[in-house]
Amino acid sequence: MLSLPIATLAVLAMTAAAKKCLNVTVPVDIAARTAVFDLPVPQSNADATAFVSNLTQQGRNFTDLVLTGYQNTAGKYQISTQYCVPSVNNVSHPTLQILTHGIGFDKTYWDNAYNNFNYSYVDVATDQYKYSTLSYDRLGIGNSSHGEPLNEIQSYLEVAALAKLTLMLRNGSFPGVPTAFRTITHVGHSFGSAQTYSLVNTYPNISDGIVLTGFSMNGSFIPYFEAGADFIQANLNQPFRFGNASFAVGDAILASVSTALNISTTSVAATNIINNYGLTDFVAGLPTRQRVPYVNGYLANSNANSNQYLFFEPGFFDPQLAFAGEATKQPVAVGELLTLGSAPMVNNYAGPVLVITGSSDLPFCGGDCFATGDPTLPSIPAAVAASFPRVRAEDFTAYIQPNTGHGLNFHYNQTGAYRVINDFLGSKGLAPS
Ligand SMILES: *[C@@H]1O[C@H](CO)[C@@H](O)[C@H](O)[C@H]1NC(C)=O
Ligand SMILES: *[C@@H]1O[C@H](CO)[C@@H](O)[C@H](O)[C@H]1NC(C)=O
Ligand SMILES: *[C@@H]1O[C@H](CO)[C@@H](O)[C@H](O)[C@H]1NC(C)=O
Ligand SMILES: *[C@@H]1O[C@H](CO)[C@@H](O)[C@H](O)[C@H]1NC(C)=O
Ligand SMILES: *[C@@H]1O[C@H](CO)[C@@H](O)[C@H](O)[C@H]1NC(C)=O
Ligand SMILES: *[C@@H]1O[C@H](CO)[C@@H](O)[C@H](O)[C@H]1NC(C)=O
Ligand SMILES: *[C@@H]1O[C@H](CO)[C@@H](O)[C@H](O)[C@H]1NC(C)=O
Ligand SMILES: *[C@@H]1O[C@H](CO)[C@@H](O)[C@H](O)[C@H]1NC(C)=O
Ligand SMILES: *[C@@H]1O[C@H](CO)[C@@H](O)[C@H](O)[C@H]1NC(C)=O
Ligand SMILES: *[C@@H]1O[C@H](CO)[C@@H](O)[C@H](O)[C@H]1NC(C)=O
Ligand SMILES: *[C@@H]1O[C@H](CO)[C@@H](O)[C@H](O)[C@H]1NC(C)=O
Ligand SMILES: *[C@@H]1O[C@H](CO)[C@@H](O)[C@H](O)[C@H]1NC(C)=O
Repeated sequence: MLSLPIATLAVLAMTAAAKKCLNVTVPVDIAARTAVFDLPVPQSNADATAFVSNLTQQGRNFTDLVLTGYQNTAGKYQISTQYCVPSVNNVSHPTLQILTHGIGFDKTYWDNAYNNFNYSYVDVATDQYKYSTLSYDRLGIGNSSHGEPLNEIQSYLEVAALAKLTLMLRNGSFPGVPTAFRTITHVGHSFGSAQTYSLVNTYPNISDGIVLTGFSMNGSFIPYFEAGADFIQANLNQPFRFGNASFAVGDAILASVSTALNISTTSVAATNIINNYGLTDFVAGLPTRQRVPYVNGYLANSNANSNQYLFFEPGFFDPQLAFAGEATKQPVAVGELLTLGSAPMVNNYAGPVLVITGSSDLPFCGGDCFATGDPTLPSIPAAVAASFPRVRAEDFTAYIQPNTGHGLNFHYNQTGAYRVINDFLGSKGLAPS
């Protein structure tokens, strides 16, 4: 068992905010039943678009159409995590939130550095509510192990990794973390909520409370997301960051563009041109020289405008944040898109459940969570209650966060949503004490 004395936490790296964090890459031995799809992995941008045409065609279930059976996938994978504790960590009964990001992001979704961490969920959960947090790059994404994008990197295997991380944090075997947590809650966003939902269905006793953000059980609008992303090969979309393009050649291209336009590469004019013409993507990774290469079959949304369509409600966000999001975005594997909806409609979980979704959420509400067409149903997320027959009525809440799109953490009133989440957990006796 790798556990360090309490004193170790005092020397954990300080971020710009006061919370203390430890970055640790955790090896996990996992196995899962994964789907076998009879489909070529998309190799070009045109293939990527054809794949989305297949996926979004009405009147059929493409996943089912190309499913040939299931196999067992097992292996040792690396999961890149960030564990954080409050700057003043004086609680005697610590409780943990495990944070699972959605499509298009990595663990920094929960701890966004933009505007001096003003949008950080982790800052609020740790320093205001005294939780410990674990955020991580989902298996297949970011600094966690990548894999074969069709038949390996699927929701099933990612949920097995989430279960393993949780069990390690419960029994004190998580490297560098001295606490064996007795109380653990899980908070997801979007696909991360779908995985949290699957986790507690498979292991009903693994979580003391769950929060599903940017979520509903209504799949009618998922094709809006799949089409609106304008997915193309990640390694062609951001060739320096996700591909193998030469940084030196990139510098030369940028220099000749600025010469042609007679602007400095660092001027406001250049920044505007880069943002407005989608070059944000093209040059991402150049300044920092950071490369996270992906093979074909990992797809990325095309530009800042598709990012806006998927995640933001117009008028209620800082446009510079959307551009910053483009420079730090992450792809999605085709195997993930095919297994998005793999969880059953009825869940075995019996603990507290909060669903919190932005009023204008695109993929889970089609842009309006209140338009249910059913006077007895207050919102589309409210229907999630029917999926949790074992949860007591008083332990289920569906909340619609006003003036907010799918990217709950990115709107001007993000801290309002953070308060709703942490107050819900506290009201269920899950707060640290
Ligand atoms: C830890 O990882 C985050 C990204 O999740 C990064 O911004 C930060 O610089 C890292 N901290 C250290 C001390 O490496
Ligand atoms: C689209 O689906 C058809 C089967 O309906 C398949 O033959 C074809 O390879 C698929 N193309 C892509 C790019 O997914
Ligand atoms: C589509 O098919 C897959 C594989 O059979 C299944 O897991 C999924 O629940 C189906 N989706 C819908 C909406 O029926
Ligand atoms: C923990 O520290 C905070 C901030 O210094 C303080 O307000 C609070 O009373 C302390 N709680 C305990 C249980 O010591
Ligand atoms: C991934 O690793 C790189 C290099 O160590 C680091 O700069 C970056 O912050 C990491 N990103 C995340 C999301 O962990
Ligand atoms: C803790 O749990 C992990 C994950 O289930 C398991 O692999 C490990 O053997 C356990 N360690 C101890 C000391 O119980
Ligand atoms: C899960 O928790 C319930 C309620 O506390 C208990 O009845 C049940 O035996 C537990 N199941 C397992 C597999 O531990
Ligand atoms: C380039 O812009 C500068 C002012 O920023 C101007 O003085 C110069 O004449 C311009 N050069 C050309 C070739 O347009
Ligand atoms: C990047 O280069 C490596 C080494 O030449 C190669 O194995 C890999 O396939 C390349 N990746 C892409 C996306 O071109
Ligand atoms: C999804 O929501 C739409 C709009 O409220 C509704 O018409 C449709 O019946 C819902 N579908 C399901 C499966 O609940
Ligand atoms: C931080 O967020 C709050 C609440 O959304 C906002 O009022 C404030 O202006 C922001 N501060 C900065 C520096 O962006
Ligand atoms: C901000 O969010 C909180 C929590 O949902 C809500 O009570 C409040 O009305 C919101 N404020 C605005 C201006 O939308």
